[in-house]
Amino acid sequence: MRLGVLTGGGDCPGLNAVIRAIVRTGAGRDVTFVGFRDGWRGVLDDATSTLDPVTARGILHRGGTILGSSGVDPMRTNDGPDRVRGAIERHGLDGLVAIGGEGTLSAGAALAELGIPIVGVPKTIDNDLPGTDVTVGFHTAVQVASDAIDRLHTTAESHDRVMVIEVMGRHAGWIALYAALSGGADMLLIPENPFDIEDACAHLRHRHMNVSSFSIVVVAEGAVPEAGSMAVPDYPLDENGYPRLGGISNVIAPEIEERTGFGTRVTILGHVQRGGTPVAFDRLLGTRFGIAAVELAAAGGWGRMVSRRGQEIADVPLAEATGARRVVPQELYREAEIFFG
Ligand code: F6P
Repeated sequence: MRLGVLTGGGDCPGLNAVIRAIVRTGAGRDVTFVGFRDGWRGVLDDATSTLDPVTARGILHRGGTILGSSGVDPMRTNDGPDRVRGAIERHGLDGLVAIGGEGTLSAGAALAELGIPIVGVPKTIDNDLPGTDVTVGFHTAVQVASDAIDRLHTTAESHDRVMVIEVMGRHAGWIALYAALSGGADMLLIPENPFDIEDACAHLRHRHMNVSSFSIVVVAEGAVPEAGSMAVPDYPLDENGYPRLGGISNVIAPEIEERTGFGTRVTILGHVQRGGTPVAFDRLLGTRFGIAAVELAAAGGWGRMVSRRGQEIADVPLAEATGARRVVPQELYREAEIFFG
């Protein structure tokens, strides 16, 4: 068997663990590979990398992706599906392994519908893909954010301040919730629950009068105020026409300072959460997903995505994996409210 491998969308820690496991699993089964550069762009433009046990060596601990990545979408490109078919023929491939998030896998699902053989592997620090309990990259992002909260605690405490920390999470508050719980934050604002700035300030006033002289507020970049309660930033659009988020806390913090009188500072973690060494969980998850992807392809499971269900590795149709986003359930939010008010 011969497979093409690509990584698309935003990079994240653990992608190289997936690539390494794919190559190592293939080596034991007489499977050879072609690496496509920069996600679907490499497939469309025939930009390739050698992908074998030598080039995939020494990468388990490295963040990013040795194949490069991009948000190029073959379904929004002229003759996209035909060019993908062409690449498969030219390189004598049995199919493609697409490692990606919503955009990359939605394109994969659409191509699979057209009969193009594709197996998917889910990754995104946002952890919001349906069809799997967890995605590659999420746990590293949580660790980075949790460590940052630890560091912000000292300044918050020394200066009696409100420290607002903004983490990624475009549509879902998974990183914010996990980091806030593990870092011992005092308030959580996530996209799933539009916030009222006055309620938030009342909570902070109560806390500073009765409990403590400082607060840590964790905000997901996609957090939204209740309709009409506060202005939100005017986000620029990215190359696919989606708002480039980041900066909601620069609007929230001055509101808090003005309404409460508490000194307030902002930290936006940004791409720090997507960079650097993957935590052990992401290395293991990526490794198990990589093994499963090759096994799925060998079994002819085209049009499916590997996934994690509980402790088990499973697989689901790509179409299911790209359906409605998996957001933080209200029961989990209510549980967290014990700490966040
Ligand atoms: O989807 C992952 C993610 O990190 C989001 O949390 C964030 O909004 C987006 O990617 C940023 O993308 P880019 O790196 O293209 O600005």
